[in-house]
Amino acid sequence: MFRKLIFAILLLSGAESFGQNFDIVPKPVSVTPGNGRFVISGKTRICSGKDLEAPAMLFVSQMEKLTGTELSFSDIPSKGSIKLQTDLAMDAEEYVLNVSKKSVSVTGGSEAGVYYGLQSLLQLAINNDGAIPAVMITDKPYMAYRGAMMDVSRHFFSVDEVKRFIDILALHKLNRFHWHLTDDQGWRIEIKQYPLLTSIGSIRKETLVGQMDESREMKYDGIPYGGYYTQDQIREIVDYAAKRYIEVIPEIELPGHGVAALTAYPWLGCTGGPYEVWTRWGISKDVFCAGKESTFEFIENVLTEVLELFPSKYIHIGGDECPKDRWEKCPLCQKRMKDEGLENEKELQSYFMQRIEKWMHSHGREIIGWDEIMDGGISKTAIIMAWRDQFNGTKAAQQGNRVIMTPKWNCYLDYSQTSDPDKYEPIGPRRYLSIRQAYRLDPYDRLTPEEQHNILGVQANVWAEYIPDFQYHQKKVLPRLAALSEVGWAYDRKNYDDFVKRLASFARLYDKEGLVYSDYVFKGIE
Ligand code: ACM
Ligand code: ZN
Repeated sequence: MFRKLIFAILLLSGAESFGQNFDIVPKPVSVTPGNGRFVISGKTRICSGKDLEAPAMLFVSQMEKLTGTELSFSDIPSKGSIKLQTDLAMDAEEYVLNVSKKSVSVTGGSEAGVYYGLQSLLQLAINNDGAIPAVMITDKPYMAYRGAMMDVSRHFFSVDEVKRFIDILALHKLNRFHWHLTDDQGWRIEIKQYPLLTSIGSIRKETLVGQMDESREMKYDGIPYGGYYTQDQIREIVDYAAKRYIEVIPEIELPGHGVAALTAYPWLGCTGGPYEVWTRWGISKDVFCAGKESTFEFIENVLTEVLELFPSKYIHIGGDECPKDRWEKCPLCQKRMKDEGLENEKELQSYFMQRIEKWMHSHGREIIGWDEIMDGGISKTAIIMAWRDQFNGTKAAQQGNRVIMTPKWNCYLDYSQTSDPDKYEPIGPRRYLSIRQAYRLDPYDRLTPEEQHNILGVQANVWAEYIPDFQYHQKKVLPRLAALSEVGWAYDRKNYDDFVKRLASFARLYDKEGLVYSDYVFKGIE
């Protein structure tokens, strides 16, 4: 009797007892198990119209790489196949994945929706060793903007590494890649009209060794360090990302964090230099001069080339950490303030940013700026990237500006992952950002439903001062990126314990992909 009862319970509870694993990260809207299994094998075909051949072929190559199974593509529907289709009544990124004993169908609101459905199918294939339990999954993202930023100035990452980072974003169903291309420590984008930006500005003569401590003498390695992307390489990366439904948003930092550019063209600064591409970390007092017309001419020429390379609606123009020391002493900056009726240097920065924003609008684009651009007054049209504190973003959203939330205490993946970094982690920022804390981000906190519409989404930022190579970059990013991807995709269905359980399955995909990741969360180290 007792054994019969146990058997009946097992039969009813189904899922776990028969090795069915429906773990998907980020969490879908609904998962409804069915009966039986669909086995993917070398005989399985993936069928779609020509319009969906691109996501189909990406899935074919992912399956081959991760499971060794070689699927074939056909534009003629056949029995027992994986069928792809679009349904224009659905949201663009929405999908329905239906797995039955006999066939699989993926229906998306657009190519991107179908692609996301296939990413979920891939996770199910890996979780269940190719024998996918019947299931109906409905899914769509909560937030429109789901991003990650890579800093290639402090340390340079090759074209292949950038593509690999884009692969990682795609696996997490992110759709924006914010590319931090310029900073004090190196200018990384070829600009044809200003060749010295790369021939001089992309190279620093050496790099600080160890953790920066301004109270002690700093040590340098004596080794020149550089790297930049040609315009052809940039086009290649933009195209690579687009094929994975990811838009690349470039950042050209203004008016601070510009020492690399000032080194190449010293007339861009207030004092005229000489300057030197920075070899240490921190915030430089040397910034673009806001008084000279030639500064704006230079920036507009640079941005003209940037717009040709990047089709994104949004262009990031920096705006953070711009000390006003030089402007206070510069006769041209002071004259500009007088001529424009500006009360102080913060207003001069607003003048600077708003002037570039106007130019951007006249070229059909919009600007994103770090939250400091609010300090001296902002236009209603600027998009605020809140980083210092979430409540800068909250305030901006209340004032009617659009906001991308990247508050450092939840989103800076260069921060330590454990509460005892000296024990567990290499040198780097000692601020603590556990995966749990990343997961806790609530970008809508204290906002009315109306104000919440101004939150475009969330983004992970990975500053690279202490990230010398791509192996370590991955260890910083994974798996905390999964937590932020779930905030952006599945905000309304978050549950940390359930997330950690699903994450263990997702890590099998990391393993098969050959990705490097931190395993603190799996070892219970916080
Ligand atoms: C920043 O972290 N300075 C945007
Ligand atoms: Zn000046």
